[in-house]
Amino acid sequence: MKIIVDNTPIECKEGELLINVLLNNGVEIPHFCYHQDLGADGNCRMCMVEIKGQKRPQVACDTFVCENLEVFTKTKSINEVKRSILELELLNHPVDCPICDQAGECKLQDYYMDFGLYNSHLTTPKTKKGKAIDLGSNVMLDQERCVLCTRCVRFTTNITKTNELGIIGRGDSSRVAVAPNRPLNNPYAMNVVELCPVGALTSKDFRFAQRVWFLDSVKSVCHGCSRGCNIHIDYNETKYSDEKVYRFRSRRNKQINQSFLCDYGRLSYRELNEKFNSTSWGMESFKELLRAEKKVALVSPSFSLQQLQAVKEFCKNYNIELFSLPYADESFGDDWLKTNDTSANFTGVKELNISTCQDKFNSFLESSELVVNFDHNLLKVKELENKKVISFTTSKIEIKCEAVFAIANFAHESGTIINCDGIRQDFYATKYRCEAPRLIELLEELQ
Ligand code: SF4
Ligand code: SF4
Ligand code: FES
Repeated sequence: MKIIVDNTPIECKEGELLINVLLNNGVEIPHFCYHQDLGADGNCRMCMVEIKGQKRPQVACDTFVCENLEVFTKTKSINEVKRSILELELLNHPVDCPICDQAGECKLQDYYMDFGLYNSHLTTPKTKKGKAIDLGSNVMLDQERCVLCTRCVRFTTNITKTNELGIIGRGDSSRVAVAPNRPLNNPYAMNVVELCPVGALTSKDFRFAQRVWFLDSVKSVCHGCSRGCNIHIDYNETKYSDEKVYRFRSRRNKQINQSFLCDYGRLSYRELNEKFNSTSWGMESFKELLRAEKKVALVSPSFSLQQLQAVKEFCKNYNIELFSLPYADESFGDDWLKTNDTSANFTGVKELNISTCQDKFNSFLESSELVVNFDHNLLKVKELENKKVISFTTSKIEIKCEAVFAIANFAHESGTIINCDGIRQDFYATKYRCEAPRLIELLEELQ
């Protein structure tokens, strides 16, 4: 069926929520409290639209579409409504944008520039509320910046069901708070920072670390476990030439992680900034090592399909028995996103028919003179006594090796991985400089 939005026909399904139709068709519709993965609450009134035949403006997050519905989102009176709402929202706001981490991606700031632009009518002092309140392990709250949209509260009530956050007080004293001795410490707590449309909730990790307009972004997939949550890698390519990853943000994928990440995965970006040098290595001695008669290789189950394929070919050429073993951690998984398989592509390992048999690997390891380690982090020092080891690695390793080749980590790689449910996903390389070569190119050179 069709509805008409600002004189343009738009196709949609009967009964769809109007705000979703508008958002999915690129119609700009300001909103604080509505979120595609939290649903509607109807408290902010920012999504007001005019509907032909109705006297008063209606909220788009509580209107369901029907045939020939005619909607206006940009009329003078609607803009006036938004302006009044913004004036109310900002009445007691500290307007401390220059020191706020959300500046540059704050909805209050954006909407003020689009619809506000008024002079304050307030003649009495602003209501003061709590600043820099430590909510728990990873999140800080500034109550004065809050627009009381309740997204954070609904997240802990409806999604994690941990109920740490609530709104206390009345009128202009209303504020978000945690109950005494119940800090916001659940394993998904940092999602509230991303859900918050303004700078009221900030991440301790990202606070004052970087202005968002200096960040570039690339589409990627978290490698923290086999769920494969979709992320944006936000990194700095040029400013101050620091060339590092500053944060992971969730990228909406309705089928896998909706708009959420676990805190562990979100903070795993730190590993991508570890810098180390490889030992230099003459090609001759490398080839010499590969002449060993009995050789075994272990490859990381987090490598992409393309990397695994290159490793497979390399091992075939040098007659090396190739294995991959899972990263299993019974204490990591839960009944939502996190899985006990803490590798990113064990499904891909199996699809490429790489042997995953622990017993077989153990017996090959015992009889081998040379072990080639492709970034697998479970090899124990003891198992490798009296063996020669070559390592291709994305980070510092403890084991003693005859040769170490530093290789680029997944922030510098594009590739494909398959998650625990068999969903294939592509991820892409950032553009900042990496001193270590990409594995596939390095193996081609070494062949
Ligand atoms: S802290 Fe942020 S998410 Fe929570 S109610 Fe306030 S504005 Fe909304
Ligand atoms: S659930 Fe797994 S894939 Fe998702 S963010 Fe956490 S560690 Fe990363
Ligand atoms: S988004 Fe509709 S009332 Fe808040």
